[in-house]
Amino acid sequence: VCGFLSAPLMNVSAANSDTNTTTKYSLKFNSNNYTEETATVDGKTITYRAYEKIVYVKNPVDTKYEIMNIYVPEEYYDGTSIGSYNADTAPIFFPNTVGGYMPAEPGSPGLDERSGEPNAALVALSKGYVVAESGARGRTTQNESGEYTGKAPAAIVDLKAAVRYLRYNDKIMPGDAEKIISNGTSAGGALSALLGATGNSKDYDSYLKKLGAANERDDIFAVSSYAAITDLDHADIAYEWLFNGINDYKKLVISSDTDYHIQREMVEGTLTDDQIQVSNELSALFPNYVNSLKLTDSNGTPLTLNKNGNGTFKEYVKSFVMNSAQKALDSGTDLSSLTWITIKDGKVTNLDFDQYIQYVGRMKTPSAFDGLDLTNAENELFGTSTTKAQHFTQYGLENSTVSSTLADASLIKMMNPLYYIGAKGTTTSSYWRIRQGTVDNDTSLAVPTLLSAKLENNGFNVDFSMPWDQSHGGDYDLDELFEWTDDIVA
Ligand code: DHB
Repeated sequence: VCGFLSAPLMNVSAANSDTNTTTKYSLKFNSNNYTEETATVDGKTITYRAYEKIVYVKNPVDTKYEIMNIYVPEEYYDGTSIGSYNADTAPIFFPNTVGGYMPAEPGSPGLDERSGEPNAALVALSKGYVVAESGARGRTTQNESGEYTGKAPAAIVDLKAAVRYLRYNDKIMPGDAEKIISNGTSAGGALSALLGATGNSKDYDSYLKKLGAANERDDIFAVSSYAAITDLDHADIAYEWLFNGINDYKKLVISSDTDYHIQREMVEGTLTDDQIQVSNELSALFPNYVNSLKLTDSNGTPLTLNKNGNGTFKEYVKSFVMNSAQKALDSGTDLSSLTWITIKDGKVTNLDFDQYIQYVGRMKTPSAFDGLDLTNAENELFGTSTTKAQHFTQYGLENSTVSSTLADASLIKMMNPLYYIGAKGTTTSSYWRIRQGTVDNDTSLAVPTLLSAKLENNGFNVDFSMPWDQSHGGDYDLDELFEWTDDIVA
């Protein structure tokens, strides 16, 4: 420990003699390099040490993003416990701020911009968690030569490298690196799930080595994932299975003008005949995919779909929506205006699935993820260092309306947690909390449902539900989230 305490405040060590043209960063955590911060949670002042902008690999590609902020309750420096946690046992809450598969700088504890309430990191600190927030490269990250540096699998490689840094420094840092709990929403929820699914997989090794990530395990204890935009190579067929026949759409288009002001515009429209044809073709491909997964519900009933898209899997999705409606009803929500829900003696006994989907409404046009004109966020995720965007499905390539190429199969695999859950040579997290709002139409409800079933079928502990009338978002139920994390750690 003494060696680290006397280290220079900057996180840069002398370059090795054989690579004296490159600056190398130290992987050793510097306990002295912090500021003392205070914040108020529920009227109580908390004090914590903020270690910010720590480069977590030896050879970063982009030090704007490959950095981590670490926050530690002050109590842990004088031997005090917070609840049942102390400096040795405190779990490490590991939220990412990734959205839209864009690059993300690490977040920090504070007030949520929209709600004005303490954000997840601040609540975690107040409950005695150590908080480690990692940044990650994203689909638009470029170097000085204009090459893209954040295309798949960069973001997941960065998060893994950050996990390895935490393990590498476990002995000198407060918190228990065997109790890392990842959290994220949307693209960040997808990366949280991917991090949990792919622990220690060799597939990412060459990328981690190149970055100079610590030579440590990168499996994590638990995953919290909200509104995950995941299973990207099947997300189009899952979306059309759910929304086929809904031809009107309403989407939020976010763009930035020349002064980089973000513009949000609600665009309404109706699918063209060509788009309806694409929807029909894509939805027809979904049953084979579901059936190929050979999943069952918790009673062992196979989850399948016939060629019309009906079957036990659809009933299974519906059961989560019904459970959600029941919970809303039990907590006093008036559902009587929703004529498609059947309620008898305070019990939700049925739900007209088609009418429910009409109520949710379509947001995206087919194909929703692998855009046929390569203009979707996900097309850009699968670009290369020199190509802005690519397809990542055979259907997308074959039906492309522009000159295009297909991403490498290995990269498509590396971005999809479903290929890794329970796979040989992979340490998948034991505990999962997955949430998808019942009116979230950014991806199909089938996506988190398949993820949850795949996990459960492989023996992992899954808490999956669909919060009632919740749209695309996350971190809206922090009390319940931290009850769950406290429970699984205990
Ligand atoms: C996000 C939302 C999307 O609809 C999508 O396709 C990808 C990412 C997001 O909010 O992160």
